[in-house]
Amino acid sequence: MSHRAEAADVTSGDAGVEGNSRLTGTVGVLLLILLFAEGLTILSIRGLITWHLFIGLLLVPPVALKIVTTGYRFARYYTHAAPYVRRGPPHTILRLIGPVLIAMTAVLLGTGVWLIIVGPDHAGLILLAHKASFVIWFGLTAIHVLAHVRETVVLAAKDVRRPDPARPVPGRGIRTSAVALALVAGVALGAVVTPTATAWTNARANVEGHR
Ligand code: HEM
Ligand code: HEM
Repeated sequence: MSHRAEAADVTSGDAGVEGNSRLTGTVGVLLLILLFAEGLTILSIRGLITWHLFIGLLLVPPVALKIVTTGYRFARYYTHAAPYVRRGPPHTILRLIGPVLIAMTAVLLGTGVWLIIVGPDHAGLILLAHKASFVIWFGLTAIHVLAHVRETVVLAAKDVRRPDPARPVPGRGIRTSAVALALVAGVALGAVVTPTATAWTNARANVEGHR
């Protein structure tokens, strides 16, 4: 490879890292909005259970996309891809929190879906696991969001602004499509599955009567 071609490779590789981070940032903005809305439903869970289920299910594809983009950076860093090594790992605390946050998010969403499957009459331990994972998840997410929120806005804004011709970061269309696709898939998942959870959404009054 000529010296020139090598230099070009380095640049496009670093643009790849930057593109990866921008996608993570844009998904972060979407998650921030959806998680805030999901948080509101918890304040009056009985009355807002339909919204809780719909937004919870809607969150699944965007969360999956977030895990894919950060997992990709993780994999490239640990397989010693030069641009990702140059970018370096996240701050030590965030680096330690990352995998636990992914695990707790999976437990939170997983027990949520499980609750739909078993229904209110057999919710017992699963509801307990859902609530317990929420408490741990919330603490980790609070740190994660506080640490990343500034960077999130900066990263997401870069793909909204006019591209800098001196330092192009190709793939804006793909990044926007990936986020749009995750959102559409989430709405579809929520719209298809929420109406099947009638035991939660209709029978609340009956269940209340049992308690
Ligand atoms: C609840 C679901 C979420 C999961 C599972 C998750 C997971 C991760 C992981 C594992 C990392 C890599 C480690 C790190 O840099 O801390 C990361 C990075 C990041 N996250 Fe999250 N995150 C979530 C929500 C959010 C939210 C709501 C925001 C918005 C404030 C956000 C913004 C970011 C940013 C900006 C990065 C750094 C990207 C980079 O510089 O390449 N995340 N996330
Ligand atoms: C697929 C996604 C989700 C589904 C299907 C789901 C489902 C449920 C169900 C059926 C309940 C029981 C409601 C009741 O006792 O009447 C519940 C409670 C709860 N959920 Fe979720 N959930 C999901 C995601 C989430 C997320 C993302 C969070 C946090 C941001 C969360 C936090 C909670 C909390 C804190 C409770 C307990 C509320 C209380 O009893 O005061 N859930 N969820």
